[in-house]
Amino acid sequence: MTETLAQTATVERTSTPRRYLMCRPEHYTVSYEINPWMDVTRFTDRDLAVQQWETLYRTYLDWGHTVDLIDPIPGLPDMVYAANGATVVDGVVYSAQFRYAERAPEGPAYEQWFADAGFTTHTAREVNEGEGDILLVGDVFLAGHGFRTDRSSHGELASLVGREVVSLELVDPHYYHLDTALAVIDGDAEQPLVAYFPPAFSEESRRVLEEMYPDAIIATERDAVALGLNAVSDGRRVVLAPGATDLAEALRDRGFEPFAVDTSELLKGGGGAKCCTLEIRDAR
Ligand code: ARG
Repeated sequence: MTETLAQTATVERTSTPRRYLMCRPEHYTVSYEINPWMDVTRFTDRDLAVQQWETLYRTYLDWGHTVDLIDPIPGLPDMVYAANGATVVDGVVYSAQFRYAERAPEGPAYEQWFADAGFTTHTAREVNEGEGDILLVGDVFLAGHGFRTDRSSHGELASLVGREVVSLELVDPHYYHLDTALAVIDGDAEQPLVAYFPPAFSEESRRVLEEMYPDAIIATERDAVALGLNAVSDGRRVVLAPGATDLAEALRDRGFEPFAVDTSELLKGGGGAKCCTLEIRDAR
């Protein structure tokens, strides 16, 4: 056991340049409740949210990544959670169709941004919340359902992009999006690495994950409640919530560099670093 850890720690991890889309939380507040983290009676500090978001944004820039920005729209406080805005692979954009009316206008807003940026966009027929529930791991998409995204969208996505889509059922309302329960740590490795919190998944989906990723990092409850799985990895450096200390240690053991960014104010809306970050994968 000790030997295996020592061996894996010596693995050289390589970061690859990324392109992200983000939305500054200028209109951030919690004015409705669509997940268990949201509480309209609790005070939200917009300026602090902006500050924390800026730290995340600067971190990506410091690491040499490209970050595009979409203009925030008044009355759409959740627009800061850019990951939900679409799914983009090979330069193809699969739009989001939000579950709740409060967020519905975000789908077309994000789709318009991509169209203006020269991307081919496809308006989804089925309900899906973008990269909140649809994560690319190597060549395969993992796609959540149970709370937000309809399973029918998984088939729609598969036929659009011509890639395998593996459906995973979420069962705990606190982990209502796949990206709150599973993090892609290294999708490009020969043996892709993910981290996840098993209790967030149905038994059957847990079995699927165990089979696909026998070496996965199993997150603890402490990691999960800090929304630590809402992490962003560039293949070497991993941004995550400061409270996810077990996950940070597990990452270090495997040769990654965990980097804590406090997004506590954005957690009041039920999101963390990954929620604020939509990955744009250009045509290869
Ligand atoms: N308040 C937002 C919602 O409930 C938070 C979205 C978090 N985004 C994410 N990718 N998990 O829809």
